[in-house]
Amino acid sequence: MPKDSLTITDNRTNKVYEVPITDGTIRGIDLRQIRVSDDDFGLMSYDPAFINTASCRSSVTFIDGDNGILRYRGYPIEQLAEQATYLEVAYLLIHGELPTASQLEQWNSEVAQHTFVHENVKSFMSGFRYDAHPMGMFVGSVGALSTFYPEAKDVLNPEVRRSHMIRLIAKMPTIAAWSYRHSVGMPFVYPDFALSYAANFLTMLKRGSSPNYTPPPEAVRALDVLFILHADHEQNCSTNVMRSIGSSQADPYCALAGAAAALYGPLHGGANEAVLRMLREIGSLANVPGFIKEVKEGTGGRLMGFGHRVYKNYDPRAKVIKRLADQVFEVTGKKNPLLQVALELEKIALSDDYFVKRKLYPNVDFYSGLIYEALGIPVDMFPVMFAIPRTSGWLAQWEEMLADKEQKIARPRQIYTGYDERPFVPMNKR
Ligand code: COA
Repeated sequence: MPKDSLTITDNRTNKVYEVPITDGTIRGIDLRQIRVSDDDFGLMSYDPAFINTASCRSSVTFIDGDNGILRYRGYPIEQLAEQATYLEVAYLLIHGELPTASQLEQWNSEVAQHTFVHENVKSFMSGFRYDAHPMGMFVGSVGALSTFYPEAKDVLNPEVRRSHMIRLIAKMPTIAAWSYRHSVGMPFVYPDFALSYAANFLTMLKRGSSPNYTPPPEAVRALDVLFILHADHEQNCSTNVMRSIGSSQADPYCALAGAAAALYGPLHGGANEAVLRMLREIGSLANVPGFIKEVKEGTGGRLMGFGHRVYKNYDPRAKVIKRLADQVFEVTGKKNPLLQVALELEKIALSDDYFVKRKLYPNVDFYSGLIYEALGIPVDMFPVMFAIPRTSGWLAQWEEMLADKEQKIARPRQIYTGYDERPFVPMNKR
């Protein structure tokens, strides 16, 4: 009868250890018993960037990268994108179950009521430099919200947690829109309770001189779907930061500002911007074969928006986004000529040996930038557009971490590679 365990022979001592296997993993701490002497600290595993280390048990999001599957709380992303609203998905991520009609009504109304920020937030946002990047303003402003809600420090109180999760989800669109308005020197637009989450955001972003501006419903739905697709993606870089800061029991505003800062990096939330710049550089269909050739020869950089650490198949979010792009271009009437370039790149890449052999498929970022562009959202705003919906995922993971009895303050080990002890050198001897 096979056993769910691993037998390890330490060739330094010839001792044999048996370590249990649960859920396809061994516990790192079980290695500690493997030592060569009584004063040996014990064996550790070395795993820079957590390539093969599970840092938690989680029931929020499931990804099967080989088969292109993404599910929130068990529900396939395609079905959620088709049938749910973003706030419904945010409720699902945080509470674990889809809301009933009355729960959703209450949730929507609670979120709407908290969309306003304190007037002093407006004052300090006005103080950013005239050319401040919207994502820098976003990160700074979310962190500053911590000072407005000192009671949010009581993170072990579930009621307090819930009330601040609602505030965070509610205020992100306001801060995001105001970050953009400041960066283009336009007055801030206050939230409107009567509008849906996405409509309210688009209105705060785009209302000009007419107070009657209402965003087209197709644009609102497209944005809501993009929000659903970006809501969570299990233990990615920024989520790991959210959990890590949260593990010290810092308040959720500070933890979320840290997570958003991680998202700002071009290797994480910035890839959609890189896709757009690449498409602009290629410029026309005629230049596509030459560009692909350069990518393959290693002289033209990478095909941005292709490939993924986890997905070795078509990213399921990219499929939904591709369909959405067609719908958006139809209603905005702005058929982006770069779409033709993107489609041609995809066609060639999906049949070219180089990309097929390496399992390089379009990822979420390949088409999303084109949709944002069609909605009139500038490139600098792309990481902010990602941070708004990812807030619900960060919070769901934070909530799960705080309720998990096995979690402690996150504190990895290191392999020390520095000097042994040496005596201090006085200034005149250096
Ligand atoms: N274009 C061309 N070649 C690519 C490629 C791309 N977008 N992505 C990976 N490759 C090639 C690598 O050159 C490497 O080839 P080699 O085996 O001949 O050296 C092979 O595929 C494996 O790549 P690797 O960098 O080891 O994969 P990874 O899992 O570490 O990287 C990404 C994943 C996402 C960082 C990578 O695919 C990439 O840089 N993509 C473009 C940026 C992007 O779209 N990021 C958004 C992710 S959501």
